[in-house]
Amino acid sequence: MSVTTTDGRTVTESAAPATAAPAEHTPTPTGPAPAARPGADARPSAEVIRAEEAGLAHNYHPLPVVITRAEGCWVEDVEGRRYLDLLSGYSALNFGHRHPVLVQAARDQLDRLTLTSRAFHNDRLAGLAEGLAELTGLDVTLPMNTGAEAVESAIKIARKWAYEVKGVPADRATVVVADGNFHGRTTTIVSFSTDPVARDGFGPFTPGFRVVPYNDLGALEAAVDETTAAVLVEPIQGEAGVLIPDDGYLAGVREVTRAANTLFVADEIQSGLGRTGRTLAVEHENVTPDLVLLGKALGGGIVPVSAVVGRRDVMRVLRPGEHGSTFGGNPLAAAVGQAVIGLLRTGEFQERATRLGAVLEANLRPLVGRGLLRYRARGLWAGLDIDPAVGTGREISERLMARGLLVKDTHGSTIRLAPPLTIGEDELTEAIGKVAETVAG
Ligand SMILES: Cc1ncc(COP(=O)(O)O)c(C=O)c1O
Repeated sequence: MSVTTTDGRTVTESAAPATAAPAEHTPTPTGPAPAARPGADARPSAEVIRAEEAGLAHNYHPLPVVITRAEGCWVEDVEGRRYLDLLSGYSALNFGHRHPVLVQAARDQLDRLTLTSRAFHNDRLAGLAEGLAELTGLDVTLPMNTGAEAVESAIKIARKWAYEVKGVPADRATVVVADGNFHGRTTTIVSFSTDPVARDGFGPFTPGFRVVPYNDLGALEAAVDETTAAVLVEPIQGEAGVLIPDDGYLAGVREVTRAANTLFVADEIQSGLGRTGRTLAVEHENVTPDLVLLGKALGGGIVPVSAVVGRRDVMRVLRPGEHGSTFGGNPLAAAVGQAVIGLLRTGEFQERATRLGAVLEANLRPLVGRGLLRYRARGLWAGLDIDPAVGTGREISERLMARGLLVKDTHGSTIRLAPPLTIGEDELTEAIGKVAETVAG
């Protein structure tokens, strides 16, 4: 039996059958066949999958494809079949696989310096902080590794700010969050998840969170009081199925938080860094939060890099020894992060997301009533609610895989499309054509 989680990953309770990619998949020719895969597993897909199931915890239920190499928007499995990647590692691969500029930055850094710990300075981290300040319009960076760590760090900063600056009595600080949220998997973060699959069995939970309906400013305003350290929201809820709030919601959150002397923390870990056609999704409403959380694409699909970027007067509540991470801000991560910032500085990827997003939408619109109940799209990012009559999200994902497209379902019946921002227009229209044929039944 399997259950779908908030982030679209399916948790299986018994081993799934070890199947290789369905035979009807037509390999997409281009590029030389991989003669040798140094260091790679030489076994065929089905055997690799069986070995994974025997040796790995079953906290994921991947599609039955074993990828061995990738370039740009394309990945290739161990049998040499090629697939168009329409998931982009949940937006960690916004610039595609192995973008040459990012790979070069990593290679150069690998040859020079990879880790110092923060016990010493290194000559890459200041540049990352300067780049992030430029990118976000904020002042100060706290570098971490994963998205969940950035969220945890922001919660700690907000609580400390509440006690030291706002004057909230000790241990009384609250953080207001939205239902349907997805901010990661730590025990504190799942404490305020509204998804039983993410929460059940993991208590006792961290207190101090208030959950309000997403996209409901009245409820948000009512939940904020003199104990509120922060309002933490995703500008677009990715794992929930690309839920886009009404125009004015983010500006409203900004107003409510400012009026209540409360921090606005925007989790841009999935929505940020070009995906929606802007560097940050909050830019669609010209809003500057107090803290912005970045992750995923900041590591260029190469290394985990995350960050809290915030106002100087807020971030300074952290003093030496109060927070940290052995790997946070390591020179390799900083070099890749800086190269990512360099790519975004040109505006090219934001522009592509806007332009190709319009193509995506134009092609999705006619599918409503023809296999899709509805869809939501912003930039090169869409959530497609599949008509249950044509199959579950998982079934549609498997059928798309058989046609050479990789997507992932979320919440049972929604498919998320998030191609690399480097995808070509022809590749995109061809892909949606295949989606159309597949959902039409
Ligand atoms: C909005 C958001 N925040 C936080 C996270 C957690 O990031 P990570 O998986 O790197 O811990 C995710 C991951 O999907 C996310 O989408």
